[in-house]
Formats: sequence, C-alpha cells, structure tokens
Amino acid sequence: MNVLRLGFENFRNLCPGEIFPGETINVIHGSNAQGKTNLLEAIWLFTGGHSFRGTKDSELPVLKDGKNAPAASLSMTLFTEGREQELRLELRDGRRSSVINGVEKKTGSALVGKFCAVIFSPEHLLLVKEGPSRRRAFLDGALCQSRPAFTRVLAHYNKALMQRNALLKDIPRHPELIDTLDVWDERLILFGTEVVQERAAFCKDLEPRAAEIYRGIAKNREEITLSYAPFGGAETKTEIAERFSEALKNARNADARAGFTSVGPHRDDLTLTIDGLSARTFGSQGQQRSIVLALKLAEADILYRKTGERPVILLDDVMSELDMSRRDYLLNHLDGRQVFITCCDPETVRLMETGRGFYVEKGTVRQDTDEKAGEVHAENETPTCESE
Ligand SMILES: Nc1ncnc2c1ncn2[C@@H]1O[C@H](COP(=O)(O)OP(=O)(O)OP(=O)(O)O)[C@@H](O)[C@H]1O
Ligand SMILES: [Mg+2]
Repeated sequence: MNVLRLGFENFRNLCPGEIFPGETINVIHGSNAQGKTNLLEAIWLFTGGHSFRGTKDSELPVLKDGKNAPAASLSMTLFTEGREQELRLELRDGRRSSVINGVEKKTGSALVGKFCAVIFSPEHLLLVKEGPSRRRAFLDGALCQSRPAFTRVLAHYNKALMQRNALLKDIPRHPELIDTLDVWDERLILFGTEVVQERAAFCKDLEPRAAEIYRGIAKNREEITLSYAPFGGAETKTEIAERFSEALKNARNADARAGFTSVGPHRDDLTLTIDGLSARTFGSQGQQRSIVLALKLAEADILYRKTGERPVILLDDVMSELDMSRRDYLLNHLDGRQVFITCCDPETVRLMETGRGFYVEKGTVRQDTDEKAGEVHAENETPTCESE
C-alpha cells in the first residue's frame, strides 16, 4: 500500500496543510522540535493504534494558549486493494471518529486493518537494551497483527495467569486451596502451549528475513541470530505441554510461597546475537539500532506475505549513530517499500538516490524543490503558521 496524500489540521504543532509523498523513500528533515515526528505520528494513527509516543488522544489536538483546539482532523488518500481509498480520522475531546470512503464510522478503531504500517522510533531500542518483556511484546504485537486469532489465545492465557496468581496469593491464608490450582494449571497449559508454538513458528519465519536484512545493513560484515526455544527447545504440542506441566508442578510450592507463577511463556525471552555475542550485553549503539531495524523490517515483510499488502515503513530518528554505509542501505536499498524517514541533517537527503524530501520548520511542511537530490528550501523562506 502507498500513502498518496496526507492532510492535517489542528494536529499538534503542524500548520494546516497536506503532503504528497512519493512511492519509495520520503525523508522528512528539519531542526529539533519543528514537527517531524508529529508528521510521522499523523500517518501512524491511521493504523488505529495509539500514539507510539504514549501520548493520550486528548493531548493530540493543537494546544493554543494552553488549551486544546476543538478537534484534530487528519485525512489520507491511500492506494490499497488495487484502488485509491479515502480515510479520515478526527480526534475530539479524547475520542476518535473516522470516515472510510465517505462512510462515517463512530469509532477510530474502524480503521484497523485498512492501513498497515511498521514503526521504528528511538523507544524501540529498548527492545534490545532492556529485559525480556520488551522482546515478548514485540513477538506478541507482530503476531496479533499477522494472526488476529492469536490475540484471543494470548488474552485467555493472561486471564488464566492472573487468576492463578490471585489464588497463589490466597494460599498462605487458606492452604486447602492448593488443590484447586489444577484447574488453572490446565488452562495455562492449554493456552500457553499455543502461545509458545505460535511464537516459535513466527521466529522461524522471522530469522532468515531479519538475518538477510541485517547483512544488507552491515554490508555482509556481521551475522545475527534469533533464538526462541522455551522448555529446552520442545517443538511438538505434546512435548511443550508435557514440559510446561512438569515445570508448573516442580515450581508449585515455591510459587505458593512467592505468590506468583514463576514458569511459563510470560517469562520467555527471545535471544538476539551479533557475531555470536549477546546483542543486549555486547552490541554497540549502531549494532543495536541495526538489529532492531532488521527485526522491524522483517516483521513488515512477514505482514506483506500474509496480507498481500506491503506495510508502510515509518522510521523516526533512525539515522543518528549509523555510519554512511548503513544510512545508504536505508535510503537506497529498501526497494519496493514506501518509507518515511525523519532526520535532522539535510545532508541525508542528498545521499538519497531517488525519493522525495520534505522540510519541516515551525510546523510548516514543504516538499523539497528537487525530487532527486533533495534540494533544501531556501533558509530565508519564512513559514506562516506560527505568526497566525
Ligand atoms: N498538542 C500540541 N499542541 C501544540 N504543540 C505541540 C503539541 N504536541 C507537541 N507539540 C510541539 O511539537 C513540537 C515538535 O515536536 P516533534 O516531536 O515533532 O519535533 P521533531 O521535529 O521530531 O524534533 P526532534 O528532531 O527533536 O525529534 C514540540 O515543540 C512540541 O512542543
Ligand atoms: Mg522527532
């Protein structure tokens, strides 16, 4: 899918306007705090997801004199399913509404599945820098997008886990309750086995794609591996269920003392290595950035295979800490994908062989005059929005 046009009004600091992105690379450049990430966020909101910066919907309309404007309005012309489609998203008093091809919808969630994008923002570096929960969230998030049935399985697992944990907390006061744990163990094993199997299958799909993309980014100088192998790498449903059941039994007394469940897919990790060493412990800044990028781009490829539509790639502030050859890969070798990249350095635009540049200043967005070389707008052009 391709964004052909994006319109914005009363959204964060962006002056009312529209842009016409190209089919390949679109570089959004400008100094700090001018509105580059805001523009990317405006595109992202059409996925139906929350702001990737964790901002509440009520805080997204423009603030004037410390107060929110009545509503933020975003519009998009999208080429998808073989035709042009018109999407509109309105944010008013913290509530969303949408219009899809002229048909009004009461909710913003009606957009889910219409527009598909993968986002990399600096916060995503935590995926490699922090503990296992970030990596589980990446796997589960990607699975929920590509296999909606997984969302239900995961919800059932989490509910059973919460109920088992509640019971474990009651056991010190009511020791007789320990026998009722069997019921929750059964449910944990039933849904947990499915969670493990789905994650393992997804990782098997993801690894060769991510490894190939990483080789491209690192110009074949480094190799990465991904490994998700809970319960000693058990593969079949029966094997996983047996080992999970055994682990729960072995941990039962300790769990009852601690008041929570210490084994299961909610404790799993996805191990990432670069040239055989843990990416988390030994990876350099550039390597950690590159591996997260490879995972995100591979996720987009898997979504494409499953849905037949290429998700739009949104890369916020990805260039810093990357050397010239890694920047060159992102700018010139992501063939066939529509990509939006924000950066501060206008030189980046000149590295791009084909594509469009957009210059953002005080919320005003202008397309660069020269499509190929990314000729930057003359500095003496003053944007109008701020002086309104
Ligand atoms: N609801 C809002 N109303 C008005 N201004 C807002 C609102 N939300 C954010 N802003 C302003 O938008 C400005 C630009 O934000 P943005 O994050 O897009 O900058 P940026 O160009 O990506 O900068 P950087 O290069 O530092 O990442 C900030 O100064 C911020 O105060
Ligand atoms: Mg930014």
